[in-house]
Amino acid sequence: MSANATNNTTMNTPDKLTVIALAAGKGTRMKSPLPKVLHPVAGRPMIEKVILASKGAGATEVRVIVGHGQNLVRQVVEPMGVSCYAQDEQLGTAHAVRCAKPETIEGDVVIMNGDHPLIESSDIKEFLRIFRDEKCDLAVVTAELKVPGEFGRIVRNRGELVAIVEAKDASAEALKIREINTGIYIAKASVLAEYLPQIKNNNAKKEFYITDLISLCIQDKLKVQAIKSTPKVAVGVNNQVELAKATRLLFKRKALRLMEEGVLMIDPRTAYIEESVQIGPGTVVYPNVFIRGRSKIGSFSVIESNSFISDSDIGDSVQVRGGTYLESSKLHNKVSVGPYARLRPETEICEEAHVGNFVEMKKTKFGKKSKAGHLTYLGDAEIGEEVNVGCGTITCNYAADKKKYKTKIGDRVFVGSDTQFVAPIEVGADAVIGSGSTITKNVPANALAVARGKQFIKENYVAKAPVVETETENQ
Ligand code: UD1
Ligand code: CA
Repeated sequence: MSANATNNTTMNTPDKLTVIALAAGKGTRMKSPLPKVLHPVAGRPMIEKVILASKGAGATEVRVIVGHGQNLVRQVVEPMGVSCYAQDEQLGTAHAVRCAKPETIEGDVVIMNGDHPLIESSDIKEFLRIFRDEKCDLAVVTAELKVPGEFGRIVRNRGELVAIVEAKDASAEALKIREINTGIYIAKASVLAEYLPQIKNNNAKKEFYITDLISLCIQDKLKVQAIKSTPKVAVGVNNQVELAKATRLLFKRKALRLMEEGVLMIDPRTAYIEESVQIGPGTVVYPNVFIRGRSKIGSFSVIESNSFISDSDIGDSVQVRGGTYLESSKLHNKVSVGPYARLRPETEICEEAHVGNFVEMKKTKFGKKSKAGHLTYLGDAEIGEEVNVGCGTITCNYAADKKKYKTKIGDRVFVGSDTQFVAPIEVGADAVIGSGSTITKNVPANALAVARGKQFIKENYVAKAPVVETETENQ
């Protein structure tokens, strides 16, 4: 089919897609005070993953069913531009979908459980393509599992889909079925509006099951299909063990994608890199590294073990040595930091600068080719280019009036070891600060400043110790 023909087909059927995400359940099996769908999977609330996948698949509208802990859930999902529909009593998954008012929807509807965080846009698009190509009225996405556990079972008769039976209601025979209901359904909105009200709650849990939609529609000779997918789509979260498994799988998926793009991973099993993170080809990630949020790392950089990097922008050929902690910081090309450095928010390290071990910075701009090799604290500071900050330097930025003050140090300044800058303070370019100084007054450019007690010598100060007779000597 030519590109034109494809375009024509889409133009003829302006398909609207609405996603209904079920997120009202308590998640009793999580045994946690947090609503289930807010539990983080690889760093983000699981409901967020479901919403992002829906939007990525082209959903024009996402309706989230909220109930348990809905105040909290709304706070997370509403800023993502979705609408929330309250289900005040959790009477089952069919009841939950009814709360989304399907009679007010046009076009196709994808229904998903909010506890399936591994779902991706490409999966939803593929299910929808099959649903539309086959001109279905209703479809359920299934998967074949080695251990079908608590999942609803897909009952077929001579290969034809007949019904979904919940594990709790299933006969010993039905429990042996390994094809399960992933909890993803696609339906024409009109089908939902007509058949949902017909569902009854005569089952083990006395709940209205969405799964009963399948047999109801089949009885009425609608076109109902099971779309067989992969076990990945079936990964749901009902307890803490499943939550940890889902997290592990998402980190694994991310590590594989990064390797496909040319990132070197010494042990991808211990790379904890969130989905949103970008890393350029040729960068090496050592074992046991955590990289979060909006972090971006360029090419040919090295991230050593036990580093924690959050919302930071790291350039090319940067060395992040072991045990380094970076938060909302910017590291330009060819910078090296650590081992054991801590850069707090709003820190910027300019090109070719070096930040060594046990150095902490906060709200500090550290100029090109400058060095702070050891045991230093720089807070609310502006450090020029090619500055040498000696070991044990401290900016005293926090004053007794509980306010923060700035330290400004010009280009090429030499700061001797064990210096304190009592802010607010400015040091002009090329100045030299003697070791052990407590600088309380501004230092002009090119000057030498020394502020420490003078050394004095008292010759023969230590008197010769008197001889003490001991018992041993008397014997
Ligand atoms: C459900 C399916 C099961 C399927 C499995 C896939 C039913 C009856 N069973 O079982 O066939 O194999 O998902 O994971 O649908 N929810 C509400 N309101 C309610 C009840 C549930 O919003 O009244 C939400 C929950 O928050 C959750 C989702 O619906 O996100 C699924 O509910 P859950 O109780 O986890 O269903 P399962 O027992 O897993
Ligand atoms: Ca579930």
